[in-house]
Amino acid sequence: MKSEDYSGPEAFQVEKRAMFATEWLPLCAEGQIAGPGDFVSASVGGWSVFGVRDKEGAVRVLRNACRHQNMPVVNTPSGNCESFRCRFHGWTYDLQGRFLSAPPPVAPKDPGSLDLHLAPLATALVDGLAFFNMGAPAPAVAPSLGGPFSAYGGTLTTEIACNWKVCVEHLLAGKGPSPDFAWHWPLLTVRRAGAVAIVEQAVPHTFLRTRLLTHVFGCAAENHQQAADTIKHVCERQQADRAAGKLAIDDNSLIADFHLRLAEVYARGGEAG
Ligand code: FES
Repeated sequence: MKSEDYSGPEAFQVEKRAMFATEWLPLCAEGQIAGPGDFVSASVGGWSVFGVRDKEGAVRVLRNACRHQNMPVVNTPSGNCESFRCRFHGWTYDLQGRFLSAPPPVAPKDPGSLDLHLAPLATALVDGLAFFNMGAPAPAVAPSLGGPFSAYGGTLTTEIACNWKVCVEHLLAGKGPSPDFAWHWPLLTVRRAGAVAIVEQAVPHTFLRTRLLTHVFGCAAENHQQAADTIKHVCERQQADRAAGKLAIDDNSLIADFHLRLAEVYARGGEAG
């Protein structure tokens, strides 16, 4: 790994096309979109997507790109609605992403065309989390994160001014595979303490911005606010270290494996690495 892999945009572009375009990626906890019309949107590894629960209770992840002129249809991180109306020219979609209507001046010639529906992505629900895959066909998804977990206790959102790899390295630091800790490449860790499970999800927003979602099962999420604040503080300090050339040491097998797999991504992707 080089300093610029943490602080420049080039590595992020390679990761976007050589990793995030093909891996199963977590989007949110199912509990974040528990009711009909609940949605969550995010840019994950450079891909703009949103997840929504329809009236029948099914969860879908869709590309957040209007079929009129490719602008984002969902512009808030979360919410609830009956349908999605693109704010640019008014194309409207139902909770399954199907085209409903458009104002006459911008109406499509063939309103029955299947090409007008928002692009659905491969979606999987695993142990209370919603995953998506940009690829078609998508590979098999991991069947379990080690759950089932106890009752969903909420999700904390922490915005961190760091590269996503700094966040993952921090989550792996000082850890090893054990019954109480697991890393799920590339973005998830699961920590267990008795009946409590804490799933940390790194969301690579940009090459210098990471959203950490702390999904808590078995107790109230608020109990973990202080820990999330500490992660933010440490990661932002470590981001400055990486930018200054002080790189992470492969001090355990998980971090060594993380760097090895990243090296394979960069080899696949071409110019970075
Ligand atoms: S880009 Fe969405 S309606 Fe035009």
